[in-house]
Amino acid sequence: MKDELFFEGLDPKELIADYGSPLYVYNERVFRARCREIKNLVSYPAFSVNYSVKANNNLSLLRIAHEEGLMADAMSPGEIYVEEKAGYGLDEIFYISNNVSTEEMAFAVQRGIVVSIDSLSQLRRFGRTFPGARASLRINSGVGAGHSDKVVTGGKKTKFAVSLDQLDEARNIIRGTGIRLVGINQHIGSFFLDGEIYLEGVRALLDVAKDFPDLDFIDLGGGFGMPYDVKTQHRLDLNELGRRLDELFYAFAGSYGRQVRFKVEPGRYISAESAVLLGTVHAVKENAGHLYCGTDIGFNVLIRPVLYDAYHEIETWPHRPEAPQKPFTVVGNICESGDILAKDREMPVMEEGDLVIVHDAGAYCYSMASNYNNRLRPAEVLIREDGSVRLIRRRDTLEDLIRNFE
Ligand SMILES: Cc1ncc(COP(=O)(O)O)c(C=O)c1O
Repeated sequence: MKDELFFEGLDPKELIADYGSPLYVYNERVFRARCREIKNLVSYPAFSVNYSVKANNNLSLLRIAHEEGLMADAMSPGEIYVEEKAGYGLDEIFYISNNVSTEEMAFAVQRGIVVSIDSLSQLRRFGRTFPGARASLRINSGVGAGHSDKVVTGGKKTKFAVSLDQLDEARNIIRGTGIRLVGINQHIGSFFLDGEIYLEGVRALLDVAKDFPDLDFIDLGGGFGMPYDVKTQHRLDLNELGRRLDELFYAFAGSYGRQVRFKVEPGRYISAESAVLLGTVHAVKENAGHLYCGTDIGFNVLIRPVLYDAYHEIETWPHRPEAPQKPFTVVGNICESGDILAKDREMPVMEEGDLVIVHDAGAYCYSMASNYNNRLRPAEVLIREDGSVRLIRRRDTLEDLIRNFE
């Protein structure tokens, strides 16, 4: 088991009996611990953490992150709305727009939220429409990282940000339209376990920042990874990364002449390990010599393995240590042959009614869930620090499926 203490003594079978299967189960202790680790990343005082809500937008978790002193990123008006509902002040929200309409820009500007602009054409439109408004410029400093090509957002051909050769033109637009450029930001991509690549991105961004003398903040982006597969992946060394960031921050502040604010935007690191996804085995079968474990975890519930070939550790419940281990392909209940959670995974032979525990299911899991095949999205429950369980999102109902039809 990845974290023996995750269930705080509760029985997964009872959780399923109470809240249905599949079920996302969160642990408050783990979630708070990750918030604190990132909050204390550096000693540099003008440092803030924007939780990247796209990873997990549950209102209860957002409230906990806020209690822990985190601010928030938003990638859409919907995320801004939810963050406001969770109690984030408008000065605690940073809107990172990408190819948005003027109405979406206005949604943030009218609330006094700083908007990150990520192309020259959007910068022109922003400046024309909101003269004198505050903005940040998203820059591709040439460095990229990520667990899949689909989430590398810097350093190569990518739809994001303004590249270094466009900076002179960006400056002209800013001057010409009177935009108040209060920040620059980047995000090299999602997932790194070696701090070196992040530091490379930071150095490249600081090289750009020195030529913008009026910045309030420099936002370095997210991407902090955690080990999904403890056999092949190590933990990111946050102490070392923090120490190296401190060196860069203090040196930059010295040459810049004042203590500019540095921000980071972690999503996955904060929430991934705080949840497991429980599902039920409904079939154990052999097809053309291949063993299949058929569960109720379709890709509508957890799409990462299908979308990114992502690995999640899967444990069986009960553990069945006496049962022979065999290579099972773990599949869901969606009507597509690509509905595969794990291929040829060595697991004990299970029985129908057993549970599977999918680990590290707190980031980009529920937030990417859908009603495909008109399946109901599962409930989410939180194991509180005192060991009690709270329903933090109810399971969809059949009525939810037709709620928006006219
Ligand atoms: C602009 C931006 N910031 C932050 C994040 C959060 O990334 P992660 O969850 O890997 O920390 C993302 C996600 O890809 C992003 O696009």
